[in-house]
Amino acid sequence: MNVSFQGKRALVTGGNKGIGFAIVQGLLAKGFDVILTARSQDKAKAAIEQLQSSNISALELDVSDDNSIDLAAKNLSQEIDSLDVLINNAGIYPDQRVNILTVSRELLNQTMNVNAFGAVRVTQAFLPLLMKSVAARVINTSSGYGQLSGLSAEAPTYCLSKLTLNGVTIMLAKALQTKGIVVNALDPGWVKTDMGSGVAPRTPEQGADTAIWLATDAPSNLSGKLFHERREVSY
Ligand SMILES: NC(=O)c1ccc[n+]([C@@H]2O[C@H](COP(=O)([O-])OP(=O)(O)OC[C@H]3O[C@@H](n4cnc5c(N)ncnc54)[C@H](OP(=O)(O)O)[C@@H]3O)[C@@H](O)[C@H]2O)c1
Repeated sequence: MNVSFQGKRALVTGGNKGIGFAIVQGLLAKGFDVILTARSQDKAKAAIEQLQSSNISALELDVSDDNSIDLAAKNLSQEIDSLDVLINNAGIYPDQRVNILTVSRELLNQTMNVNAFGAVRVTQAFLPLLMKSVAARVINTSSGYGQLSGLSAEAPTYCLSKLTLNGVTIMLAKALQTKGIVVNALDPGWVKTDMGSGVAPRTPEQGADTAIWLATDAPSNLSGKLFHERREVSY
């Protein structure tokens, strides 16, 4: 445990499984107090029971639902007075048997709402708490599929949503620069999770590593950037 992070608070969306759960574990190990959020209170509570830590709390937060986001921010602000790290990790990959020539508007809306617009609305809602931290950090879990060189016609809504999330990262970084809040994105690589499948080469811990580094040890003069394996990569 690193004493410099003791007493600091981090919130992770989609923290109940996969990369989000590994990020939660990594931040706890660093000494953070962690708010693990999930689409339902039951899922959040079931996840924190596996961790057996007194430094973790559960919060219901559906990133596609403004009422859920606003209620979560309101409830949390009654419990704590500042937030140091926000990790927008929740995501979906619903592109089965569709491509850019066949995808529906409905599926485009659904994925953009969760993967891209969710990060915008969650950041807006928790901004009052983030602004009370002396050096807050916002971290967006993006993907190589969101890089210009990674766009695939076979994963249309996912690629567009992560491309947009990268744009969101740049814009949030600009908007929050004067407030001293650093905003970055990461590509975790292809990770063995429900989304990444069992044949993916990387473990959730490996996928979480860059997010944890961005939350803790990454230079604070880097903002609005995309990282993979702790190195800046091009959008
Ligand atoms: N796995 C990979 O290879 C890979 C590669 C690049 C990027 N990523 C990104 O990494 C992040 C985590 O993915 P993962 O691989 O850990 O996938 P995962 O195991 O499927 O976990 C996704 C998490 O997001 C949550 N989520 C989905 N929709 C949500 C919503 N509307 N509100 C709140 N939470 C929601 C899920 O909750 P439920 O349990 O309720 O479904 C779950 O906790 C995602 O942003 C993903 O795009 C993953």
